[in-house]
Amino acid sequence: MRSLAGGPMAETALDTEAPAPAGRPLRVIAVASGKGGVGKTNVTANVAVALARLGERVCVLDGDLGLGNLDVLLGLTPRLSLLHVLRGERRLAEVIIDGPAGVRIIPAASGAEELTALAPAERLRLLDEVDALDASLDVLLVDTAAGISSNVLHFTAAAADALVVMTPEPTALTDAYALMKVLASRYGRREFLLIVNMAAGAADAEAAFARLARVAERFLRVRLEYQGYVPYDAAVPRAVREQHPVLLAAPGAPASLALADLARRLTRRPPSAPTGGVQFFFRRLLGDGRS
Ligand SMILES: Nc1ncnc2c1ncn2[C@@H]1O[C@H](COP(=O)(O)OP(=O)(O)OP(=O)(O)O)[C@@H](O)[C@H]1O
Ligand SMILES: [Mg+2]
Repeated sequence: MRSLAGGPMAETALDTEAPAPAGRPLRVIAVASGKGGVGKTNVTANVAVALARLGERVCVLDGDLGLGNLDVLLGLTPRLSLLHVLRGERRLAEVIIDGPAGVRIIPAASGAEELTALAPAERLRLLDEVDALDASLDVLLVDTAAGISSNVLHFTAAAADALVVMTPEPTALTDAYALMKVLASRYGRREFLLIVNMAAGAADAEAAFARLARVAERFLRVRLEYQGYVPYDAAVPRAVREQHPVLLAAPGAPASLALADLARRLTRRPPSAPTGGVQFFFRRLLGDGRS
Protein backbone atom coordinates (compact mmCIF):
# COMPACT_ATOMS: atom_id res chain seq x y z
CA MET A 1 0.00 0.00 0.00
CA ARG A 2 2.89 2.34 0.58
CA SER A 3 3.39 2.68 -3.16
CA LEU A 4 0.10 4.54 -3.33
CA ALA A 5 1.57 7.45 -1.40
CA GLY A 6 3.71 8.71 -4.20
CA GLY A 7 1.49 7.47 -7.00
CA PRO A 8 -0.32 9.48 -9.62
CA MET A 9 -3.59 9.44 -7.69
CA ALA A 10 -5.52 12.13 -5.93
CA GLU A 11 -4.35 14.98 -8.11
CA THR A 12 -7.83 16.34 -8.47
CA ALA A 13 -8.69 16.41 -4.83
CA LEU A 14 -5.46 17.07 -3.07
CA ASP A 15 -2.25 17.81 -4.82
CA THR A 16 -2.83 21.51 -5.27
CA GLU A 17 -2.92 22.07 -1.52
CA ALA A 18 -0.13 23.80 0.35
CA PRO A 19 1.25 21.94 3.38
CA ALA A 20 -0.46 22.72 6.69
CA PRO A 21 1.20 25.45 8.72
CA ALA A 22 3.53 24.12 11.38
CA GLY A 23 3.35 24.77 15.09
CA ARG A 24 -0.32 24.00 15.71
CA PRO A 25 -1.16 21.73 18.62
CA LEU A 26 -1.48 18.02 18.05
CA ARG A 27 -5.08 16.98 17.97
CA VAL A 28 -7.07 13.86 18.69
CA ILE A 29 -10.36 13.39 16.84
CA ALA A 30 -12.71 10.49 17.58
CA VAL A 31 -15.15 9.49 14.85
CA ALA A 32 -18.41 8.11 16.26
CA SER A 33 -22.02 7.73 15.19
CA GLY A 34 -24.36 5.75 17.38
CA LYS A 35 -25.86 3.91 14.40
CA GLY A 36 -23.74 1.33 12.63
CA GLY A 37 -22.87 1.31 8.97
CA VAL A 38 -23.18 5.05 8.43
CA GLY A 39 -19.60 5.36 7.12
CA LYS A 40 -17.37 6.05 10.16
CA THR A 41 -14.55 3.82 9.01
CA ASN A 42 -14.63 5.20 5.47
CA VAL A 43 -14.68 8.77 6.73
CA THR A 44 -11.82 8.05 9.13
CA ALA A 45 -9.62 6.29 6.58
CA ASN A 46 -10.16 8.88 3.87
CA VAL A 47 -9.83 11.92 6.10
CA ALA A 48 -6.60 10.38 7.38
CA VAL A 49 -5.28 10.04 3.85
CA ALA A 50 -6.43 13.55 2.93
CA LEU A 51 -4.77 15.02 6.02
CA ALA A 52 -1.57 13.16 5.23
CA ARG A 53 -1.62 14.53 1.70
CA LEU A 54 -1.97 18.00 3.21
CA GLY A 55 1.30 17.46 5.00
CA GLU A 56 -0.02 16.37 8.40
CA ARG A 57 1.57 13.46 10.21
CA VAL A 58 -1.41 11.20 10.83
CA CYS A 59 -2.04 8.08 12.86
CA VAL A 60 -5.32 6.19 13.03
CA LEU A 61 -6.24 4.14 16.06
CA ASP A 62 -8.78 1.45 15.27
CA GLY A 63 -10.98 1.81 18.32
CA ASP A 64 -13.59 -0.65 17.08
CA LEU A 65 -12.39 -3.23 19.53
CA GLY A 66 -14.77 -6.01 18.59
CA LEU A 67 -15.14 -5.78 14.83
CA GLY A 68 -12.41 -3.38 13.77
CA ASN A 69 -12.06 -3.40 10.01
CA LEU A 70 -10.03 -0.32 9.23
CA ASP A 71 -7.17 -2.57 8.15
CA VAL A 72 -9.42 -4.48 5.75
CA LEU A 73 -10.62 -1.23 4.24
CA LEU A 74 -7.01 -0.21 3.64
CA GLY A 75 -5.91 -3.59 2.33
CA LEU A 76 -3.63 -4.20 5.30
CA THR A 77 -3.10 -7.39 7.29
CA PRO A 78 -1.70 -6.53 10.70
CA ARG A 79 -0.39 -9.34 12.86
CA LEU A 80 -0.18 -7.33 16.05
CA SER A 81 -2.45 -4.90 17.88
CA LEU A 82 -2.57 -2.55 20.83
CA LEU A 83 -3.34 -5.60 22.94
CA HIS A 84 0.24 -6.82 22.53
CA VAL A 85 1.46 -3.49 23.86
CA LEU A 86 -0.92 -3.64 26.81
CA ARG A 87 0.27 -7.12 27.64
CA GLY A 88 3.83 -5.86 27.51
CA GLU A 89 4.69 -8.26 24.70
CA ARG A 90 5.52 -5.64 22.08
CA ARG A 91 6.55 -2.02 21.81
CA LEU A 92 4.01 0.37 20.34
CA ALA A 93 6.38 1.08 17.46
CA GLU A 94 6.31 -2.62 16.50
CA VAL A 95 2.52 -2.67 16.39
CA ILE A 96 2.01 0.44 14.27
CA ILE A 97 1.81 -0.32 10.56
CA ASP A 98 2.21 1.90 7.52
CA GLY A 99 -0.85 2.54 5.41
CA PRO A 100 -1.52 4.57 2.29
CA ALA A 101 -0.09 8.08 1.92
CA GLY A 102 2.15 7.58 4.93
CA VAL A 103 -0.78 7.22 7.37
CA ARG A 104 0.18 5.07 10.34
CA ILE A 105 -2.32 2.64 11.84
CA ILE A 106 -2.66 1.15 15.30
CA PRO A 107 -4.74 -2.01 14.76
CA ALA A 108 -7.72 -2.78 17.00
CA ALA A 109 -7.30 -4.53 20.31
CA SER A 110 -10.12 -6.58 21.74
CA GLY A 111 -11.38 -6.09 25.28
CA ALA A 112 -12.13 -2.67 26.70
CA GLU A 113 -11.46 -3.93 30.19
CA GLU A 114 -7.87 -4.44 29.24
CA LEU A 115 -7.59 -0.72 28.60
CA THR A 116 -9.45 0.55 31.62
CA ALA A 117 -8.26 -2.02 34.15
CA LEU A 118 -4.53 -1.86 33.65
CA ALA A 119 -2.22 -2.40 36.57
CA PRO A 120 -0.22 0.74 37.48
CA ALA A 121 2.98 -0.63 35.94
CA GLU A 122 1.25 -1.48 32.65
CA ARG A 123 -0.36 1.90 32.64
CA LEU A 124 2.93 3.68 33.02
CA ARG A 125 4.48 1.56 30.32
CA LEU A 126 1.72 2.40 27.86
CA LEU A 127 1.87 6.12 28.67
CA ASP A 128 5.60 6.00 28.19
CA GLU A 129 5.19 4.39 24.80
CA VAL A 130 2.54 6.87 23.82
CA ASP A 131 4.73 9.76 24.84
CA ALA A 132 7.14 8.86 22.08
CA LEU A 133 4.29 9.06 19.55
CA ASP A 134 3.38 12.59 20.55
CA ALA A 135 6.46 14.16 19.05
CA SER A 136 6.00 12.46 15.70
CA LEU A 137 2.33 13.21 15.10
CA ASP A 138 0.04 16.07 14.17
CA VAL A 139 -3.28 14.23 14.21
CA LEU A 140 -4.56 11.07 15.85
CA LEU A 141 -7.88 9.87 14.43
CA VAL A 142 -9.84 7.26 16.35
CA ASP A 143 -12.35 5.10 14.51
CA THR A 144 -14.96 3.83 16.97
CA ALA A 145 -17.53 1.05 16.94
CA ALA A 146 -21.26 1.36 16.38
CA GLY A 147 -23.53 1.76 19.39
CA ILE A 148 -22.89 3.44 22.70
CA SER A 149 -20.89 0.77 24.49
CA SER A 150 -18.31 1.77 27.08
CA ASN A 151 -15.59 1.40 24.42
CA VAL A 152 -17.17 3.98 22.20
CA LEU A 153 -17.86 6.33 25.08
CA HIS A 154 -14.36 6.07 26.53
CA PHE A 155 -12.63 6.66 23.22
CA THR A 156 -14.88 9.54 22.27
CA ALA A 157 -14.84 11.16 25.69
CA ALA A 158 -11.05 11.03 25.80
CA ALA A 159 -10.59 12.78 22.43
CA ALA A 160 -10.42 16.55 22.16
CA ASP A 161 -12.88 16.49 19.26
CA ALA A 162 -15.84 14.25 18.58
CA LEU A 163 -16.72 14.01 14.91
CA VAL A 164 -20.21 12.52 14.69
CA VAL A 165 -21.16 10.86 11.42
CA MET A 166 -24.80 10.45 10.51
CA THR A 167 -26.83 9.88 7.38
CA PRO A 168 -30.07 11.67 6.50
CA GLU A 169 -32.08 8.66 7.77
CA PRO A 170 -34.19 9.29 10.87
CA THR A 171 -32.65 6.26 12.60
CA ALA A 172 -29.14 7.66 12.13
CA LEU A 173 -30.34 10.94 13.55
CA THR A 174 -31.90 9.41 16.68
CA ASP A 175 -28.82 7.27 17.27
CA ALA A 176 -26.50 10.26 16.90
CA TYR A 177 -28.72 12.07 19.40
CA ALA A 178 -28.54 9.14 21.85
CA LEU A 179 -24.73 9.10 21.58
CA MET A 180 -24.44 12.83 22.21
CA LYS A 181 -26.86 12.59 25.10
CA VAL A 182 -24.65 10.11 26.97
CA LEU A 183 -21.46 12.00 26.14
CA ALA A 184 -23.02 15.24 27.35
CA SER A 185 -24.64 13.92 30.51
CA ARG A 186 -21.97 11.47 31.61
CA TYR A 187 -18.79 13.06 30.30
CA GLY A 188 -19.72 16.72 30.08
CA ARG A 189 -19.00 17.06 26.36
CA ARG A 190 -20.59 20.23 25.07
CA GLU A 191 -19.33 20.48 21.49
CA PHE A 192 -19.68 18.11 18.58
CA LEU A 193 -18.52 18.29 15.00
CA LEU A 194 -21.03 16.79 12.64
CA ILE A 195 -20.89 15.38 9.15
CA VAL A 196 -23.75 13.98 7.08
CA ASN A 197 -22.69 11.01 4.96
CA MET A 198 -24.54 9.39 2.04
CA ALA A 199 -26.59 12.54 1.47
CA ALA A 200 -28.50 13.12 -1.76
CA GLY A 201 -27.14 16.66 -1.88
CA ALA A 202 -26.42 19.80 0.13
CA ALA A 203 -30.06 20.57 0.92
CA ASP A 204 -30.74 17.02 2.11
CA ALA A 205 -27.68 17.09 4.37
CA GLU A 206 -28.33 20.56 5.75
CA ALA A 207 -31.95 19.68 6.55
CA ALA A 208 -30.82 16.57 8.46
CA PHE A 209 -28.20 18.58 10.33
CA ALA A 210 -30.71 21.32 11.21
CA ARG A 211 -33.20 18.78 12.60
CA LEU A 212 -30.57 17.21 14.84
CA ALA A 213 -28.99 20.51 15.89
CA ARG A 214 -32.36 21.93 16.90
CA VAL A 215 -33.25 19.13 19.31
CA ALA A 216 -29.71 18.58 20.57
CA GLU A 217 -29.10 22.24 21.33
CA ARG A 218 -32.47 22.59 23.00
CA PHE A 219 -32.63 19.41 25.06
CA LEU A 220 -28.97 18.51 25.60
CA ARG A 221 -27.58 22.05 25.71
CA VAL A 222 -24.75 21.08 23.39
CA ARG A 223 -23.36 22.87 20.36
CA LEU A 224 -23.20 21.15 17.00
CA GLU A 225 -20.89 22.43 14.31
CA TYR A 226 -21.66 21.39 10.76
CA GLN A 227 -18.57 20.17 8.95
CA GLY A 228 -20.26 19.44 5.64
CA TYR A 229 -21.55 16.36 3.87
CA VAL A 230 -20.36 13.50 1.74
CA PRO A 231 -22.72 12.57 -1.08
CA TYR A 232 -23.93 9.05 -1.66
CA ASP A 233 -21.47 7.85 -4.27
CA ALA A 234 -21.13 4.43 -5.90
CA ALA A 235 -17.35 5.04 -6.03
CA VAL A 236 -17.22 4.40 -2.26
CA PRO A 237 -18.47 0.78 -2.20
CA ARG A 238 -16.38 0.15 -5.32
CA ALA A 239 -13.26 1.37 -3.52
CA VAL A 240 -14.19 -0.67 -0.43
CA ARG A 241 -14.33 -3.81 -2.57
CA GLU A 242 -10.88 -2.98 -3.93
CA GLN A 243 -9.66 -2.27 -0.39
CA HIS A 244 -8.42 1.20 -1.29
CA PRO A 245 -9.49 4.52 0.21
CA VAL A 246 -11.87 6.10 -2.32
CA LEU A 247 -9.78 9.25 -2.21
CA LEU A 248 -6.91 7.37 -3.86
CA ALA A 249 -8.94 4.93 -5.96
CA ALA A 250 -11.20 7.62 -7.44
CA PRO A 251 -9.77 11.05 -6.58
CA GLY A 252 -12.21 12.92 -8.78
CA ALA A 253 -15.33 11.20 -7.42
CA PRO A 254 -17.80 13.47 -5.61
CA ALA A 255 -17.29 11.60 -2.32
CA SER A 256 -13.50 12.00 -2.60
CA LEU A 257 -13.76 15.73 -3.20
CA ALA A 258 -16.08 16.08 -0.20
CA LEU A 259 -13.79 14.05 2.06
CA ALA A 260 -10.81 16.16 1.01
CA ASP A 261 -12.86 19.27 1.83
CA LEU A 262 -13.71 17.86 5.24
CA ALA A 263 -10.01 17.29 5.96
CA ARG A 264 -9.19 20.85 4.91
CA ARG A 265 -11.92 22.20 7.18
CA LEU A 266 -10.58 20.20 10.11
CA THR A 267 -7.07 21.58 9.65
CA ARG A 268 -8.40 25.12 9.76
CA ARG A 269 -10.39 24.58 12.91
CA PRO A 270 -8.74 24.66 16.33
CA PRO A 271 -9.48 21.67 18.60
CA SER A 272 -12.72 21.96 20.63
CA ALA A 273 -10.93 21.33 23.89
CA PRO A 274 -7.45 22.27 25.01
CA THR A 275 -5.45 19.21 24.16
CA GLY A 276 -2.36 17.68 25.56
CA GLY A 277 -2.14 15.47 22.52
CA VAL A 278 -1.84 11.71 22.40
CA GLN A 279 -0.44 11.43 25.89
CA PHE A 280 -3.42 13.34 27.32
CA PHE A 281 -5.84 11.25 25.29
CA PHE A 282 -4.42 7.99 26.64
CA ARG A 283 -4.35 9.31 30.18
CA ARG A 284 -8.05 10.03 29.96
CA LEU A 285 -8.70 6.72 28.25
CA LEU A 286 -6.97 4.89 31.04
CA GLY A 287 -8.98 6.61 33.70
CA ASP A 288 -7.34 9.94 34.54
CA GLY A 289 -9.27 13.16 34.47
CA ARG A 290 -12.51 11.69 33.22
CA SER A 291 -15.42 13.80 34.33
N1 LIG B 1 -20.65 8.28 0.85
C1 LIG B 1 -20.98 7.01 0.62
N2 LIG B 1 -21.63 6.64 -0.50
C2 LIG B 1 -21.97 5.34 -0.73
N3 LIG B 1 -21.68 4.33 0.11
C3 LIG B 1 -21.02 4.63 1.24
C4 LIG B 1 -20.62 5.96 1.56
N4 LIG B 1 -19.98 5.94 2.75
C5 LIG B 1 -19.97 4.66 3.15
N5 LIG B 1 -20.59 3.86 2.25
C6 LIG B 1 -20.77 2.41 2.35
O1 LIG B 1 -21.39 2.11 3.58
C7 LIG B 1 -20.87 0.91 4.13
C8 LIG B 1 -20.52 1.13 5.59
O2 LIG B 1 -19.40 1.99 5.67
P1 LIG B 1 -18.41 1.93 6.93
O3 LIG B 1 -17.91 0.56 7.12
O4 LIG B 1 -17.43 3.02 6.74
O5 LIG B 1 -19.44 2.30 8.09
P2 LIG B 1 -19.20 2.26 9.66
O6 LIG B 1 -20.04 3.35 10.23
O7 LIG B 1 -17.75 2.27 9.96
O8 LIG B 1 -19.80 0.82 10.03
P3 LIG B 1 -19.69 0.08 11.47
O9 LIG B 1 -20.68 0.76 12.35
O10 LIG B 1 -20.07 -1.33 11.14
O11 LIG B 1 -18.28 0.24 11.94
C9 LIG B 1 -19.69 0.51 3.29
O12 LIG B 1 -20.01 -0.64 2.59
C10 LIG B 1 -19.44 1.67 2.35
O13 LIG B 1 -19.12 1.24 1.06
MG1 LIG C 1 -16.58 0.94 11.12
